[in-house]
Amino acid sequence: MKLVELASFGDQGLSLIERGQPSPCLGEVVVKIKAASVNYRDFMIAQGFYNPNLSLPLIPLSDGAGEVVEVGNDVKSFEPGDKVCSVLFQNWHDYSQPRSISTGCEAAGVLTEYAVLPESALVKMPSNLNFAEASTLPCAALTAWACLQAADIHKGDAVVLMGTGGVSIFGLQFAKALGANVVITSSSDEKLKRAESLGADGLINYKENPDWGKQAFALSGDGAKLIIEIGGAGTLMQSIDSLGTDGHICLIGALQGINSEINLLQIVFKNIHLHGITVAPRETQKQMNEFIVQHDIHPVIDQEFDFEEGPGAILGIAAGNHFGKIVINLDR
Ligand SMILES: NC(=O)c1ccc[n+]([C@@H]2O[C@H](COP(=O)([O-])OP(=O)(O)OC[C@H]3O[C@@H](n4cnc5c(N)ncnc54)[C@H](OP(=O)(O)O)[C@@H]3O)[C@@H](O)[C@H]2O)c1
Repeated sequence: MKLVELASFGDQGLSLIERGQPSPCLGEVVVKIKAASVNYRDFMIAQGFYNPNLSLPLIPLSDGAGEVVEVGNDVKSFEPGDKVCSVLFQNWHDYSQPRSISTGCEAAGVLTEYAVLPESALVKMPSNLNFAEASTLPCAALTAWACLQAADIHKGDAVVLMGTGGVSIFGLQFAKALGANVVITSSSDEKLKRAESLGADGLINYKENPDWGKQAFALSGDGAKLIIEIGGAGTLMQSIDSLGTDGHICLIGALQGINSEINLLQIVFKNIHLHGITVAPRETQKQMNEFIVQHDIHPVIDQEFDFEEGPGAILGIAAGNHFGKIVINLDR
């Protein structure tokens, strides 16, 4: 079978290789992967920025979808023919448990014709999606979903989203399905137009207005209830400005730095709730999948690559040219 292997960190570390087809041990499921999707995390892992001590070689990517072809003797939840999606944290059943090892990082990933995964690292695919669409869910969609849940977003609430990458565009689709008003920022007017066509109510070009927090506050009515914060140190003060009293910051990324000096009084005076979010457990992924079916939500796939182009797709995500998700098709 063909697979992509990360043998060393850096631009030259990923290559397409051949290996024998695997069979399942107890508790394992073999999945014929049909599509996989790329997250910013996969780029950081490949470069050695995420964990420079990670044990290599590694099959990259946490997010994939495919069909079960074989199961270990004691596997109860899946059988051959089932259409499944990966789960990022392999044994994290629900919030009462600690997080565990993750697919495509401490454990082998899904950029392979046949992936061997523990039963606990899979869920059934939402029935309204094809393989490419379903492959985009485990990291970006689930993180956006977890943020909206943490802030208890309902009809009429205002949500601010930063940029038009994977998490933000899922945030837009979910928030609109919940009946919320959405303000979204981008460095590109063209991407803002695309976000508007998906229902975004307020649009801000954060390159033209680096002080966008106050504009987001105004466009949200009396300040937003939630901002999904991906910039970290460089953008946190703008996020605080965008919120109304009792607002929520869900901090998920730090694209603009990790060390920040912030005005803590703003957090106190506005009664702001600051959540650190790292994806979510498997039970939450199942709840999200039900919502996706109920509202017939289809992930936005901007770029599709062939298997052979996988290494370039992983390295290319850092350019930020995409809108929504990047998918690698293993079946064409
Ligand atoms: N904590 C978690 O569980 C979790 C899960 C998923 C992702 N993340 C993190 O969240 C971040 C985004 O993930 P993603 O998958 O959505 O990435 P992505 O698809 O690569 O999105 C990147 C986009 O972010 C926007 N961006 C970059 N810098 C920005 C800034 N200063 N202000 C506003 N927007 C900015 C850009 O949008 P425009 O091109 O429109 O300007 C860029 O295209 C990454 O840091 C990732 O590691 C964390």
